[in-house]
Amino acid sequence: MKFQSKSSVVALAVIAAISTVNVPLASADEALIAKGKEVSFDRKKGNCLTCHQIPGGTLTGNIGPPLIAMKARYPDKAQLRADIWDMTKRSPDTMMPPFGKYGVLTESEIDAVTEYIHSL
Ligand code: HEC
Repeated sequence: MKFQSKSSVVALAVIAAISTVNVPLASADEALIAKGKEVSFDRKKGNCLTCHQIPGGTLTGNIGPPLIAMKARYPDKAQLRADIWDMTKRSPDTMMPPFGKYGVLTESEIDAVTEYIHSL
């Protein structure tokens, strides 16, 4: 009896493992985009909505331009990342905080934000 219940636990574990493998995993890109959205909307992190309209965002400001059609505006994703890292390089008097230069966001958070903003 004891053995049986143990083996059924093992069987359940095996089934669980197999079904986990079979569940289609979100692509790495999707996960990164989701993380980027979270960081961008977080008032204590990117806080991009204070200055930018972003589709789906609430209580947005308009100090900066709406972040839409970003692939057309940034055919080069590396340039977008560079601008988020330090907008003052391209626009010395900007109000936008240099998120990378001042360490407001980590490098991996900036990667995620770049991926998300580029998807808009
Ligand atoms: C305090 C206000 C402020 C915050 C916060 C802010 N921005 Fe900006 N952003 C601006 C302003 C102003 C501009 C216009 C560029 C300039 O100043 O020359 C700009 C420009 C941009 C641009 C360039 C748009 C274009 O088409 O030229 C991107 C991309 C951008 N911001 C992304 C972000 C992201 C992503 C965040 C959050 C992680 C963010 N911004 C947070 C103020 C802000």
